[in-house]
Amino acid sequence: MSENQPNPDTSVINNSIPQPVVNQDVGQGRGVFISTYGCQMNVNDTERMYSLLEMSNFAIVETPEEASLIIINACSIREKPVHKVYSEVGRYQKLKNKNPDLKIGVGGCVGQQEKEKLIKNQPIIDFVFGTDNIDQLPNLVSQTFAGEKKVVNAKFEHKSPYHIETLVRNPGVSTFVNITKGCDNFCSFCVVPFTRGREKSRPLNHVLMDVRTLVKRGVKEITLLGQNVNSYESEDGSDFADLLKKVATDTDVQRIRYTTSHPKDFNEKLMHVMAEHQNKICEYVHLPVQSGNSRILDRMNRNYTREEYLAKIALMKKYIPNLVLSTDIIVGFPGETEEEFQDTCSIVEEVGYETMFAFMYSPRPFTKAASFEGQIAEEVKNRRLNHLFEVQEKMSFELVKKYENQTLQVLVEQINEQGKAQGRSTQNKLVYFLGSESLIGKTVPVKITKAMPNVLRGELVQ
Ligand code: 5AD
Ligand code: SF4
Repeated sequence: MSENQPNPDTSVINNSIPQPVVNQDVGQGRGVFISTYGCQMNVNDTERMYSLLEMSNFAIVETPEEASLIIINACSIREKPVHKVYSEVGRYQKLKNKNPDLKIGVGGCVGQQEKEKLIKNQPIIDFVFGTDNIDQLPNLVSQTFAGEKKVVNAKFEHKSPYHIETLVRNPGVSTFVNITKGCDNFCSFCVVPFTRGREKSRPLNHVLMDVRTLVKRGVKEITLLGQNVNSYESEDGSDFADLLKKVATDTDVQRIRYTTSHPKDFNEKLMHVMAEHQNKICEYVHLPVQSGNSRILDRMNRNYTREEYLAKIALMKKYIPNLVLSTDIIVGFPGETEEEFQDTCSIVEEVGYETMFAFMYSPRPFTKAASFEGQIAEEVKNRRLNHLFEVQEKMSFELVKKYENQTLQVLVEQINEQGKAQGRSTQNKLVYFLGSESLIGKTVPVKITKAMPNVLRGELVQ
Protein backbone atom coordinates (compact mmCIF):
# COMPACT_ATOMS: atom_id res chain seq x y z
CA MET A 1 0.00 0.00 0.00
CA SER A 2 1.34 3.43 -0.85
CA GLU A 3 2.25 6.09 1.71
CA ASN A 4 -0.61 8.29 2.94
CA GLN A 5 -3.27 5.72 2.32
CA PRO A 6 -5.36 4.64 5.25
CA ASN A 7 -5.39 0.99 6.15
CA PRO A 8 -8.65 -0.52 4.87
CA ASP A 9 -9.18 -2.39 8.13
CA THR A 10 -9.47 0.78 10.14
CA SER A 11 -10.96 3.26 7.72
CA VAL A 12 -14.18 3.47 5.85
CA ILE A 13 -13.05 3.81 2.26
CA ASN A 14 -14.78 6.68 0.56
CA ASN A 15 -12.44 7.86 -2.13
CA SER A 16 -14.39 11.00 -2.83
CA ILE A 17 -14.23 12.38 0.72
CA PRO A 18 -10.80 13.97 1.27
CA GLN A 19 -8.88 11.85 3.75
CA PRO A 20 -6.40 12.82 6.44
CA VAL A 21 -2.73 12.39 5.66
CA VAL A 22 -1.45 9.36 7.48
CA ASN A 23 2.23 8.81 8.01
CA GLN A 24 2.39 5.02 7.82
CA ASP A 25 5.16 4.11 10.23
CA VAL A 26 5.37 6.78 12.90
CA GLY A 27 4.34 4.32 15.54
CA GLN A 28 6.71 1.45 14.70
CA GLY A 29 4.45 -0.77 16.74
CA ARG A 30 4.65 1.35 19.91
CA GLY A 31 1.70 1.34 22.30
CA VAL A 32 -0.75 4.24 22.54
CA PHE A 33 -3.18 4.92 25.38
CA ILE A 34 -5.78 7.71 25.30
CA SER A 35 -7.50 8.88 28.44
CA THR A 36 -10.83 10.52 27.64
CA TYR A 37 -13.27 12.56 29.59
CA GLY A 38 -16.23 14.52 28.36
CA CYS A 39 -19.18 14.42 26.06
CA GLN A 40 -20.00 12.14 23.15
CA MET A 41 -18.12 14.50 20.87
CA ASN A 42 -14.94 13.85 22.84
CA VAL A 43 -15.48 10.10 22.88
CA ASN A 44 -15.92 10.27 19.14
CA ASP A 45 -12.76 12.36 18.75
CA THR A 46 -10.82 9.73 20.72
CA GLU A 47 -12.09 7.08 18.35
CA ARG A 48 -10.81 9.17 15.44
CA MET A 49 -7.41 9.62 17.13
CA TYR A 50 -7.10 5.89 17.74
CA SER A 51 -8.00 5.17 14.11
CA LEU A 52 -5.43 7.64 12.78
CA LEU A 53 -2.73 6.37 15.12
CA GLU A 54 -3.50 2.76 14.30
CA MET A 55 -3.10 3.62 10.62
CA SER A 56 0.27 5.11 11.58
CA ASN A 57 1.32 1.78 13.10
CA PHE A 58 0.66 2.38 16.77
CA ALA A 59 -0.79 -0.49 18.79
CA ILE A 60 -3.69 0.38 21.07
CA VAL A 61 -3.02 -0.71 24.66
CA GLU A 62 -5.27 -1.00 27.68
CA THR A 63 -3.17 0.75 30.33
CA PRO A 64 -0.83 3.78 30.45
CA GLU A 65 1.93 1.50 31.80
CA GLU A 66 2.08 -0.36 28.46
CA ALA A 67 2.17 2.83 26.34
CA SER A 68 4.95 4.81 24.68
CA LEU A 69 2.44 7.49 23.79
CA ILE A 70 -0.19 8.77 26.24
CA ILE A 71 -2.79 11.31 25.17
CA ILE A 72 -5.25 13.02 27.48
CA ASN A 73 -8.34 14.12 25.58
CA ALA A 74 -10.17 16.35 28.01
CA CYS A 75 -13.45 18.18 27.91
CA SER A 76 -13.73 21.59 29.55
CA ILE A 77 -17.47 22.14 29.53
CA ARG A 78 -18.24 21.89 33.24
CA GLU A 79 -15.80 20.64 35.85
CA LYS A 80 -12.33 21.86 36.65
CA PRO A 81 -10.79 19.99 33.77
CA VAL A 82 -7.45 21.73 33.76
CA HIS A 83 -6.79 20.59 37.33
CA LYS A 84 -7.80 17.10 36.35
CA VAL A 85 -5.35 17.11 33.45
CA TYR A 86 -2.48 18.32 35.66
CA SER A 87 -3.14 15.70 38.30
CA GLU A 88 -3.35 12.96 35.68
CA VAL A 89 -0.10 14.10 34.05
CA GLY A 90 1.51 14.20 37.51
CA ARG A 91 0.67 10.51 37.92
CA TYR A 92 2.62 9.77 34.73
CA GLN A 93 5.86 11.28 36.06
CA LYS A 94 6.92 7.88 37.44
CA LEU A 95 6.34 6.25 34.05
CA LYS A 96 8.37 8.95 32.36
CA ASN A 97 11.23 8.40 34.83
CA LYS A 98 11.24 4.72 33.95
CA ASN A 99 10.91 5.32 30.22
CA PRO A 100 12.36 8.65 29.01
CA ASP A 101 11.05 7.91 25.50
CA LEU A 102 7.47 8.07 26.70
CA LYS A 103 5.63 11.00 25.06
CA ILE A 104 2.66 12.73 26.64
CA GLY A 105 0.17 14.89 24.74
CA VAL A 106 -2.94 16.85 25.74
CA GLY A 107 -5.78 17.40 23.26
CA GLY A 108 -9.47 18.22 23.10
CA CYS A 109 -11.11 21.31 24.54
CA VAL A 110 -8.51 21.67 27.29
CA GLY A 111 -5.70 21.70 24.71
CA GLN A 112 -7.62 24.29 22.73
CA GLN A 113 -8.30 26.43 25.75
CA GLU A 114 -4.91 26.34 27.46
CA LYS A 115 -2.45 25.89 24.57
CA GLU A 116 1.21 26.66 25.53
CA LYS A 117 0.22 27.30 29.16
CA LEU A 118 -0.13 23.55 29.71
CA ILE A 119 3.50 22.88 28.83
CA LYS A 120 4.72 25.89 30.76
CA ASN A 121 2.99 24.69 33.92
CA GLN A 122 3.71 21.01 33.46
CA PRO A 123 6.90 20.52 31.44
CA ILE A 124 6.56 16.75 31.17
CA ILE A 125 3.84 17.38 28.58
CA ASP A 126 5.48 16.98 25.17
CA PHE A 127 2.78 18.27 22.88
CA VAL A 128 -0.60 20.00 22.85
CA PHE A 129 -3.20 20.03 20.10
CA GLY A 130 -6.64 21.57 19.63
CA THR A 131 -10.05 20.32 18.58
CA ASP A 132 -9.44 21.31 14.95
CA ASN A 133 -6.06 19.58 14.70
CA ILE A 134 -6.92 15.93 15.26
CA ASP A 135 -6.17 14.99 11.67
CA GLN A 136 -2.66 16.39 12.05
CA LEU A 137 -2.03 14.14 15.04
CA PRO A 138 0.19 11.59 13.22
CA ASN A 139 2.44 14.45 12.04
CA LEU A 140 2.52 16.04 15.45
CA VAL A 141 3.44 12.75 17.06
CA SER A 142 6.06 12.14 14.37
CA GLN A 143 7.67 15.51 15.15
CA THR A 144 7.63 14.70 18.86
CA PHE A 145 9.23 11.29 18.42
CA ALA A 146 11.82 12.88 16.10
CA GLY A 147 12.98 14.91 19.09
CA GLU A 148 11.22 18.21 18.47
CA LYS A 149 10.53 19.83 21.81
CA LYS A 150 7.17 21.06 23.01
CA VAL A 151 5.03 20.99 19.90
CA VAL A 152 1.80 23.02 20.08
CA ASN A 153 -0.84 22.98 17.37
CA ALA A 154 -4.13 24.52 18.46
CA LYS A 155 -5.13 26.73 15.57
CA PHE A 156 -8.69 26.84 14.36
CA GLU A 157 -9.11 26.10 10.68
CA HIS A 158 -11.54 28.99 10.17
CA LYS A 159 -11.51 28.93 6.38
CA SER A 160 -11.23 25.30 5.33
CA PRO A 161 -14.47 23.40 4.74
CA TYR A 162 -15.53 20.66 7.13
CA HIS A 163 -14.61 17.49 5.27
CA ILE A 164 -14.21 14.66 7.70
CA GLU A 165 -14.80 11.05 6.93
CA THR A 166 -15.99 8.92 9.84
CA LEU A 167 -13.14 6.77 11.10
CA VAL A 168 -14.11 3.92 13.37
CA ARG A 169 -12.05 0.87 14.10
CA ASN A 170 -14.82 -1.62 14.85
CA PRO A 171 -18.08 0.16 14.13
CA GLY A 172 -20.32 -2.45 15.78
CA VAL A 173 -24.08 -2.22 15.53
CA SER A 174 -24.51 1.46 16.33
CA THR A 175 -22.18 4.33 15.59
CA PHE A 176 -21.89 8.12 15.47
CA VAL A 177 -21.51 10.27 12.38
CA ASN A 178 -20.42 13.88 12.79
CA ILE A 179 -22.46 16.28 10.69
CA THR A 180 -21.55 19.65 12.21
CA LYS A 181 -18.80 20.96 14.39
CA GLY A 182 -18.46 24.09 16.49
CA CYS A 183 -21.21 26.38 17.66
CA ASP A 184 -22.23 29.96 16.95
CA ASN A 185 -24.89 30.28 19.64
CA PHE A 186 -22.82 31.73 22.46
CA CYS A 187 -25.09 30.72 25.30
CA SER A 188 -23.74 32.93 28.05
CA PHE A 189 -22.65 29.99 30.25
CA CYS A 190 -20.97 27.88 27.59
CA VAL A 191 -17.31 27.55 26.63
CA VAL A 192 -17.95 25.43 23.52
CA PRO A 193 -17.95 28.29 20.97
CA PHE A 194 -14.46 29.10 22.26
CA THR A 195 -13.11 25.55 22.39
CA ARG A 196 -14.76 24.16 19.26
CA GLY A 197 -14.82 27.27 17.09
CA ARG A 198 -17.31 28.49 14.50
CA GLU A 199 -20.05 26.20 13.32
CA LYS A 200 -19.46 24.29 10.10
CA SER A 201 -21.50 21.61 8.33
CA ARG A 202 -20.31 18.66 6.28
CA PRO A 203 -21.55 18.43 2.68
CA LEU A 204 -24.76 16.41 2.53
CA ASN A 205 -23.42 13.91 -0.03
CA HIS A 206 -20.41 13.20 2.20
CA VAL A 207 -22.69 12.32 5.09
CA LEU A 208 -24.73 10.03 2.85
CA MET A 209 -21.60 8.30 1.50
CA ASP A 210 -20.36 7.83 5.03
CA VAL A 211 -23.61 6.29 6.20
CA ARG A 212 -23.74 3.93 3.21
CA THR A 213 -20.17 2.76 3.84
CA LEU A 214 -20.91 2.20 7.52
CA VAL A 215 -24.00 0.19 6.62
CA LYS A 216 -21.82 -1.98 4.35
CA ARG A 217 -19.61 -2.57 7.38
CA GLY A 218 -22.58 -3.88 9.35
CA VAL A 219 -23.83 -0.75 11.12
CA LYS A 220 -27.60 -0.80 11.73
CA GLU A 221 -28.07 2.43 13.65
CA ILE A 222 -26.40 5.80 13.30
CA THR A 223 -26.55 8.88 15.50
CA LEU A 224 -25.99 12.12 13.63
CA LEU A 225 -23.76 14.16 15.88
CA GLY A 226 -23.11 17.85 16.35
CA GLN A 227 -23.16 20.56 19.00
CA ASN A 228 -26.32 21.87 17.43
CA VAL A 229 -27.41 19.46 14.69
CA ASN A 230 -30.57 21.24 13.68
CA SER A 231 -28.76 24.36 12.54
CA TYR A 232 -27.05 22.14 9.95
CA GLU A 233 -26.73 23.85 6.57
CA SER A 234 -25.07 22.14 3.65
CA GLU A 235 -23.24 24.03 0.87
CA ASP A 236 -26.21 23.34 -1.41
CA GLY A 237 -28.63 24.99 1.02
CA SER A 238 -30.05 21.79 2.52
CA ASP A 239 -31.07 22.05 6.15
CA PHE A 240 -31.20 19.40 8.87
CA ALA A 241 -34.69 18.22 7.96
CA ASP A 242 -33.51 17.69 4.35
CA LEU A 243 -30.48 15.75 5.56
CA LEU A 244 -32.53 13.59 7.89
CA LYS A 245 -34.99 12.79 5.12
CA LYS A 246 -32.18 11.87 2.71
CA VAL A 247 -30.52 9.59 5.25
CA ALA A 248 -33.90 7.91 5.78
CA THR A 249 -34.75 7.53 2.09
CA ASP A 250 -31.39 7.23 0.32
CA THR A 251 -29.50 4.83 2.59
CA ASP A 252 -30.24 1.39 4.01
CA VAL A 253 -29.52 2.28 7.60
CA GLN A 254 -32.23 0.81 9.83
CA ARG A 255 -32.36 3.40 12.60
CA ILE A 256 -31.50 7.06 12.82
CA ARG A 257 -30.95 9.17 15.92
CA TYR A 258 -29.46 12.59 16.35
CA THR A 259 -28.06 14.75 19.08
CA THR A 260 -27.96 17.56 20.24
CA SER A 261 -30.73 19.84 19.04
CA HIS A 262 -31.41 23.42 20.06
CA PRO A 263 -35.06 24.35 20.78
CA LYS A 264 -34.81 27.58 18.79
CA ASP A 265 -33.92 25.65 15.59
CA PHE A 266 -36.44 22.84 16.05
CA ASN A 267 -38.95 23.66 13.34
CA GLU A 268 -42.15 22.15 11.99
CA LYS A 269 -40.43 20.89 8.84
CA LEU A 270 -38.23 18.70 11.03
CA MET A 271 -41.23 17.41 12.97
CA HIS A 272 -42.90 16.57 9.67
CA VAL A 273 -39.88 14.57 8.44
CA MET A 274 -39.71 12.68 11.74
CA ALA A 275 -43.40 11.83 11.56
CA GLU A 276 -43.12 10.76 7.92
CA HIS A 277 -40.18 8.42 8.55
CA GLN A 278 -41.06 6.98 11.95
CA ASN A 279 -40.09 3.55 10.68
CA LYS A 280 -36.46 4.72 10.69
CA ILE A 281 -36.14 7.91 12.71
CA CYS A 282 -36.40 7.15 16.43
CA GLU A 283 -39.07 8.97 18.41
CA TYR A 284 -36.55 10.01 21.07
CA VAL A 285 -35.36 13.63 21.12
CA HIS A 286 -32.83 15.26 23.43
CA LEU A 287 -33.94 18.88 23.65
CA PRO A 288 -32.02 20.79 26.33
CA VAL A 289 -34.22 23.38 28.04
CA GLN A 290 -31.54 24.56 30.54
CA SER A 291 -34.07 26.52 32.64
CA GLY A 292 -37.86 26.81 32.96
CA ASN A 293 -37.82 30.54 33.59
CA SER A 294 -37.96 33.07 30.75
CA ARG A 295 -35.84 35.72 32.49
CA ILE A 296 -33.05 33.22 33.12
CA LEU A 297 -33.36 31.85 29.57
CA ASP A 298 -32.89 35.39 28.30
CA ARG A 299 -29.82 35.87 30.47
CA MET A 300 -28.55 32.54 29.20
CA ASN A 301 -28.97 33.84 25.63
CA ARG A 302 -31.04 30.82 24.65
CA ASN A 303 -33.38 32.67 22.29
CA TYR A 304 -36.65 31.14 23.45
CA THR A 305 -39.03 31.65 26.34
CA ARG A 306 -40.62 29.04 28.57
CA GLU A 307 -43.89 29.48 26.66
CA GLU A 308 -42.24 29.11 23.24
CA TYR A 309 -40.45 25.95 24.38
CA LEU A 310 -43.66 24.43 25.71
CA ALA A 311 -45.56 25.35 22.54
CA LYS A 312 -42.91 23.56 20.48
CA ILE A 313 -43.16 20.44 22.63
CA ALA A 314 -46.95 20.46 22.23
CA LEU A 315 -46.58 20.69 18.44
CA MET A 316 -43.97 17.93 18.40
CA LYS A 317 -46.33 15.68 20.34
CA LYS A 318 -49.03 16.31 17.73
CA TYR A 319 -46.72 15.11 14.97
CA ILE A 320 -45.16 12.29 17.00
CA PRO A 321 -47.65 11.21 19.69
CA ASN A 322 -45.27 8.64 21.20
CA LEU A 323 -42.43 11.17 21.50
CA VAL A 324 -39.90 10.54 24.29
CA LEU A 325 -37.88 13.49 25.57
CA SER A 326 -34.74 14.09 27.53
CA THR A 327 -33.11 17.34 28.56
CA ASP A 328 -30.13 19.20 30.03
CA ILE A 329 -30.64 21.62 32.91
CA ILE A 330 -28.41 24.06 34.72
CA VAL A 331 -29.30 25.01 38.28
CA GLY A 332 -27.92 28.01 40.12
CA PHE A 333 -27.27 30.17 37.08
CA PRO A 334 -26.11 33.63 38.27
CA GLY A 335 -29.08 35.59 39.66
CA GLU A 336 -31.48 32.58 39.73
CA THR A 337 -33.98 33.15 42.54
CA GLU A 338 -35.78 30.41 44.44
CA GLU A 339 -39.00 31.13 42.47
CA GLU A 340 -37.13 30.99 39.18
CA PHE A 341 -35.65 27.65 40.21
CA GLN A 342 -39.19 26.43 40.99
CA ASP A 343 -40.08 27.26 37.36
CA THR A 344 -37.40 24.79 36.30
CA CYS A 345 -38.88 22.11 38.57
CA SER A 346 -42.33 22.74 37.15
CA ILE A 347 -41.24 22.61 33.49
CA VAL A 348 -39.55 19.26 34.13
CA GLU A 349 -42.88 17.91 35.38
CA GLU A 350 -44.94 19.63 32.73
CA VAL A 351 -42.89 18.24 29.82
CA GLY A 352 -42.41 14.84 31.47
CA TYR A 353 -38.81 14.16 30.53
CA GLU A 354 -37.98 10.48 30.92
CA THR A 355 -34.28 11.32 31.29
CA MET A 356 -32.63 14.46 32.63
CA PHE A 357 -29.00 15.54 32.74
CA ALA A 358 -28.74 18.31 35.34
CA PHE A 359 -25.71 20.28 36.43
CA MET A 360 -24.76 22.99 38.88
CA TYR A 361 -23.73 26.12 37.06
CA SER A 362 -19.95 26.56 36.94
CA PRO A 363 -18.25 29.68 35.55
CA ARG A 364 -16.22 28.91 32.45
CA PRO A 365 -13.39 30.95 30.94
CA PHE A 366 -14.25 33.53 28.22
CA THR A 367 -18.01 33.27 28.88
CA LYS A 368 -20.26 36.22 29.66
CA ALA A 369 -22.04 34.63 32.61
CA ALA A 370 -18.75 34.14 34.43
CA SER A 371 -18.71 37.88 35.09
CA PHE A 372 -22.44 38.22 35.87
CA GLU A 373 -23.40 39.47 39.29
CA GLY A 374 -25.37 37.23 41.62
CA GLN A 375 -23.18 34.12 41.50
CA ILE A 376 -24.95 31.52 43.63
CA ALA A 377 -23.34 29.84 46.64
CA GLU A 378 -22.24 26.23 46.14
CA GLU A 379 -24.48 24.88 48.91
CA VAL A 380 -27.54 26.54 47.33
CA LYS A 381 -26.69 25.08 43.92
CA ASN A 382 -26.18 21.72 45.53
CA ARG A 383 -29.52 21.82 47.32
CA ARG A 384 -31.33 22.87 44.14
CA LEU A 385 -29.70 20.10 42.15
CA ASN A 386 -30.65 17.44 44.68
CA HIS A 387 -34.19 18.72 44.84
CA LEU A 388 -34.51 18.72 41.04
CA PHE A 389 -33.24 15.15 40.85
CA GLU A 390 -35.83 14.12 43.44
CA VAL A 391 -38.61 15.73 41.39
CA GLN A 392 -37.48 14.11 38.16
CA GLU A 393 -36.77 10.69 39.63
CA LYS A 394 -40.17 10.40 41.22
CA MET A 395 -41.81 11.37 37.96
CA SER A 396 -39.72 9.15 35.70
CA PHE A 397 -40.48 6.02 37.78
CA GLU A 398 -44.15 6.71 37.06
CA LEU A 399 -43.56 7.57 33.38
CA VAL A 400 -41.65 4.42 32.52
CA LYS A 401 -44.27 2.13 34.07
CA LYS A 402 -46.13 2.45 30.77
CA TYR A 403 -43.49 0.20 29.20
CA GLU A 404 -44.38 -2.77 31.41
CA ASN A 405 -46.20 -5.42 29.33
CA GLN A 406 -45.47 -3.46 26.14
CA THR A 407 -43.48 -5.17 23.38
CA LEU A 408 -40.62 -2.97 22.21
CA GLN A 409 -38.36 -3.36 19.18
CA VAL A 410 -34.84 -3.84 20.50
CA LEU A 411 -31.68 -3.60 18.40
CA VAL A 412 -29.30 -6.03 20.09
CA GLU A 413 -25.79 -4.63 20.58
CA GLN A 414 -24.01 -7.18 22.74
CA ILE A 415 -24.17 -9.99 25.26
CA ASN A 416 -23.07 -8.59 28.61
CA GLU A 417 -20.90 -10.18 31.30
CA GLN A 418 -23.93 -11.67 33.02
CA GLY A 419 -24.87 -13.41 29.78
CA LYS A 420 -27.83 -11.12 29.09
CA ALA A 421 -28.57 -9.73 25.65
CA GLN A 422 -28.41 -5.94 25.72
CA GLY A 423 -29.76 -3.43 23.25
CA ARG A 424 -31.76 -0.26 22.82
CA SER A 425 -35.38 0.34 22.02
CA THR A 426 -36.39 3.11 19.63
CA GLN A 427 -37.16 5.18 22.75
CA ASN A 428 -33.44 4.97 23.60
CA LYS A 429 -34.09 2.71 26.56
CA LEU A 430 -31.46 0.17 27.52
CA VAL A 431 -33.16 -3.25 27.50
CA TYR A 432 -31.83 -6.50 28.98
CA PHE A 433 -33.23 -9.95 28.27
CA LEU A 434 -32.16 -13.56 27.94
CA GLY A 435 -30.79 -14.06 24.44
CA SER A 436 -27.90 -15.51 22.46
CA GLU A 437 -24.97 -14.08 20.45
CA SER A 438 -26.80 -14.85 17.22
CA LEU A 439 -29.15 -11.94 17.98
CA ILE A 440 -26.40 -9.29 17.85
CA GLY A 441 -27.23 -6.80 15.09
CA LYS A 442 -30.84 -7.96 14.85
CA THR A 443 -33.92 -6.00 15.84
CA VAL A 444 -36.17 -8.25 17.94
CA PRO A 445 -39.47 -7.86 19.84
CA VAL A 446 -39.01 -7.88 23.62
CA LYS A 447 -41.89 -7.88 26.09
CA ILE A 448 -41.01 -5.64 29.03
CA THR A 449 -41.44 -7.23 32.45
CA LYS A 450 -39.82 -4.57 34.68
CA ALA A 451 -39.29 -0.88 33.93
CA MET A 452 -36.89 1.43 35.76
CA PRO A 453 -36.01 4.94 34.61
CA ASN A 454 -32.83 3.98 32.78
CA VAL A 455 -33.14 0.25 32.30
CA LEU A 456 -35.88 -2.07 31.14
CA ARG A 457 -35.89 -5.84 31.62
CA GLY A 458 -37.88 -8.14 29.41
CA GLU A 459 -38.37 -11.43 27.59
CA LEU A 460 -37.81 -12.20 23.96
CA VAL A 461 -41.08 -12.70 22.11
CA GLN A 462 -40.60 -15.94 20.18
N1 5AD B 1 -22.10 25.09 33.93
C1 5AD B 1 -22.92 24.02 34.10
N2 5AD B 1 -23.40 23.29 33.09
C2 5AD B 1 -23.02 23.63 31.84
N3 5AD B 1 -23.32 23.10 30.65
C3 5AD B 1 -22.68 23.80 29.70
N4 5AD B 1 -21.96 24.79 30.25
C4 5AD B 1 -22.17 24.72 31.59
C5 5AD B 1 -21.71 25.46 32.69
N5 5AD B 1 -20.91 26.51 32.54
C6 5AD B 1 -24.26 21.98 30.49
C7 5AD B 1 -25.48 22.41 29.66
C8 5AD B 1 -25.22 21.72 28.33
C9 5AD B 1 -24.52 20.47 28.78
C10 5AD B 1 -23.79 19.74 27.71
O1 5AD B 1 -23.61 20.93 29.77
O2 5AD B 1 -26.64 21.92 30.26
O3 5AD B 1 -26.41 21.45 27.61
FE1 SF4 C 1 -22.98 25.62 24.20
FE2 SF4 C 1 -25.29 26.84 23.66
FE3 SF4 C 1 -23.70 26.02 21.66
FE4 SF4 C 1 -24.99 24.19 23.15
S1 SF4 C 1 -25.94 25.74 21.82
S2 SF4 C 1 -22.82 24.14 22.53
S3 SF4 C 1 -24.99 25.16 25.17
S4 SF4 C 1 -23.24 27.61 23.16
